[in-house]
Amino acid sequence: MADDIIRETSVRRTFAIISHPDAGKTTLTEKLLLFGGAIHVAGAVKSNKIKKTATSDWMDIEKQRGISVATSVMGFNYKGYAINILDTPGHQDFAEDTFRTLTAVDSVIIVVDAAKGVETQTRRLMEVCRMRMTPVIVFVNKMDREGRDPFDILDELEQELHISVRPLTWPINMGARFKGVYNIYEHGLDLFTPSKQTVSERVEIADVNSPEVDRLIGEADAAKLREDLELIEGVYPEFDKEKYLAGEVAPVFFGSALNTFGVKELLDCFVEIAPSPRPVEAVERTVYPQEEGFTGFVFKIHANMDPNHRSCIAFVKICSGKFERNVNYLHVRQGKMMRFAAPTAFMAQKKNVVDEAWPGDIVGLPDTGNFKIGDTLTGGEQLHFKGLPSFSPEMFKYLENADPMKAKQLEKGISQLIDEGVAQLFTNTFNGRKIVGTVGQLQFEVIQYRLLHEYGASCRWEPLSLYKACWIESDDEAALEAFKKRKHQFMAIDKEGRDVFLADSNYVLQMAQSDFPAIRFHFTSEF
Ligand code: G4P
Repeated sequence: MADDIIRETSVRRTFAIISHPDAGKTTLTEKLLLFGGAIHVAGAVKSNKIKKTATSDWMDIEKQRGISVATSVMGFNYKGYAINILDTPGHQDFAEDTFRTLTAVDSVIIVVDAAKGVETQTRRLMEVCRMRMTPVIVFVNKMDREGRDPFDILDELEQELHISVRPLTWPINMGARFKGVYNIYEHGLDLFTPSKQTVSERVEIADVNSPEVDRLIGEADAAKLREDLELIEGVYPEFDKEKYLAGEVAPVFFGSALNTFGVKELLDCFVEIAPSPRPVEAVERTVYPQEEGFTGFVFKIHANMDPNHRSCIAFVKICSGKFERNVNYLHVRQGKMMRFAAPTAFMAQKKNVVDEAWPGDIVGLPDTGNFKIGDTLTGGEQLHFKGLPSFSPEMFKYLENADPMKAKQLEKGISQLIDEGVAQLFTNTFNGRKIVGTVGQLQFEVIQYRLLHEYGASCRWEPLSLYKACWIESDDEAALEAFKKRKHQFMAIDKEGRDVFLADSNYVLQMAQSDFPAIRFHFTSEF
């Protein structure tokens, strides 16, 4: 193992901030960048959420695509650490994008609105984190507004997110009476000085029992704080870093992102406890970040905004070794060597060409259609990284060609969009019709729009009422054949040619499961 790889790996922190829309993800991201000196004024990071309008506005989608490439990865340095924040789309119709981004991070910060508590999207994203045993930290935001009692919030986090929690800061009052947070982790008191542009100063307090605390926050609040802290110590076990790293316990911070309050406490603790790049499972073996040989995988493909140039950026997460510009690497699926003259790294909102990158880093590779989501790059080894599952879609439509002269363009366009991970494509083996499955209505509109604007192909959607598409397999060949025969009208193949059962109702699915015990039904593509 080379020393430089060990050193560079140990200072890398690659994570995503996830939240329900409006909880404060964009604001928190911006404040973290302010601390890193990557930006200098608030308001520089644009929210990439598509505002919920009655009809989707194409300009909004196009803008979203433009903005999200700039803010897909935001790198900055802080206290000697190299931090990469991976952005996730705000709109729930892009949940699948978010799931895939979560495969490229080593930890996660969840933002929760103090008044709203745990909301639907947070719950779903947490399920993915749990599946992957990703360490999570929770930031309870908007303490400058009246919210719920902090103990109630902790209870809700435990119940709704199915994870133990451990507060590491504690709020002193909230809303108009919000005075600050006590830093349990570092035993200090941070007083609230609302400021949207600058960073709050910290008042050091060694002991919570000192009269200084009464003087600073008043006797009543000081007494309440001492009482709360006693309760915390009694109820929640000591913070255990190993349990956090194993994804079993989530440290909780309180603050106000908008007022830059409680953010530094979060960041200081984050760099200290959050994991550096972790080993990654490949089909063949476990890959350790400190290994000399370069390996990485494509977790996101971003199409170019300019329809006249069909080029994309493939986002590669480096899993091990050192990546270098103009060095030949093996594109494992295609079995060919490729070198990259202009790989880009993402510092704050700027894209720069880089000569080298390290485990945990994300490089953007300009591409003209060579890459698919999930592709592996290596120094020569035959490796296939796991962990980029497709989830069973929730909405389905038949794809029909609306312009017979453009059949080829449609074929090419849909195949590339599917490789980009925009949606999933199934072919019904009974009637040969193509079925597109998505997690949200918006994707159908995006596909139709992009097919027309980027490929000159017109498509039409025809309604299809399906409950779920699930991947099936069995050790019993005969049982599998019998199932496929019985359900022949409802069988399809996915883009890799795997068998998929199209269940039109929950009842049908349950009946199929009980009638065919030898068949395994999977709701993600990786099993
Ligand atoms: P998101 O990315 O999670 O969707 O949330 P975002 O940061 O865009 O924040 C959503 C709204 O909540 C914004 O207001 C933002 O200013 C506000 N906000 C974020 N953090 C805090 C906080 O600590 N306290 C309070 N009181 N508000 C906070 P907006 O009116 O929707 O947008 P804007 O016009 O202010 O940008």
